[in-house]
Amino acid sequence: MQNPKNMLASITGNTKILGVIADPVSQARTPVMANTLLDERGLLGAFAMLPMQVSAEGFPAFIAGLRAMKNFGGAVVSMPHKIVTSSLVDELTPEARLVGAVNVVRRNQDGRLIGTILDGEGFVAGLVGAGYNVRGAHVLLVGAGGAASAIAFALAKHGCTSLCIKNRTPERASALLARVSHAYPQVKISAEVYSNDHYDVAINATSLGMKPSDELPIAKGLIWQCDLIAECVIAPEMTPLLLEASGQGKVVQTGVPMLAAQMNLMLAFMGAE
Ligand SMILES: NC(=O)c1ccc[n+]([C@@H]2O[C@H](COP(=O)([O-])OP(=O)(O)OC[C@H]3O[C@@H](n4cnc5c(N)ncnc54)[C@H](OP(=O)(O)O)[C@@H]3O)[C@@H](O)[C@H]2O)c1
Repeated sequence: MQNPKNMLASITGNTKILGVIADPVSQARTPVMANTLLDERGLLGAFAMLPMQVSAEGFPAFIAGLRAMKNFGGAVVSMPHKIVTSSLVDELTPEARLVGAVNVVRRNQDGRLIGTILDGEGFVAGLVGAGYNVRGAHVLLVGAGGAASAIAFALAKHGCTSLCIKNRTPERASALLARVSHAYPQVKISAEVYSNDHYDVAINATSLGMKPSDELPIAKGLIWQCDLIAECVIAPEMTPLLLEASGQGKVVQTGVPMLAAQMNLMLAFMGAE
């Protein structure tokens, strides 16, 4: 791998700029992971990824500006922009249309922006990579935003038996359950958790855990009813939820495998192959 000084020198007038767009963005690991992968493949310089902190208010204007930026290759889209991006790009892949959210945008040569979503496949690949099977699983998913929606559809696609979704705003959970059930009617859906329920996997797909003051997204008593606790949150890597679950003797999975599994797919979608 190049040293950081040489890495900067590899950026020229021909470099295609890739981004990770989020607010906040300082916690994002994507630039380091992407630039390291690009470097390993001899592509750093042809492409380079930078953090882009964009507020929700300024986001539509920013997206419009990207159409005009001829050396923009594409961007990873993160919180809080994933859902709104699906209505701002020019074209969606079938997966993004189904989920209603986008986590990667590519700029075609004609300036058109194409959006897809890879969070769900990344999450499932992370689980499978750690030796777990989604087929037949009873799953509790907390959250109903972009990541949760992608994960819900991917779990259903990969054959989970039941899916319970809880969210701070219950209407969003009900709406997501209805959409999953419409696409995958064989999956048993629920919006309620009962004290005698047992879950093979419980997933935090909310942003709770990023700030030290956050409450646990899954109550201590409910953790006890689950075998594996998996996170989407990446920073901190060991969230209070995972620390509590480990303390209860549960198997835990951080948010890192989900992102690592997506990196190749993200770079390929943005043309950095
Ligand atoms: N590891 C990875 O590769 C990966 C990939 C994608 C995302 N992530 C992480 O996953 C998390 C969610 O991302 P996202 O893109 O899905 O965000 P999003 O679309 O903005 O959704 C946020 C979710 O968190 C819930 N939430 C936010 N603040 C809350 C609070 N104070 N109390 C309870 N619930 C709260 C929201 O509930 P409401 O519906 O009630 O607002 C919603 O369900 C973030 O931490 C993100 O960094 C990780």
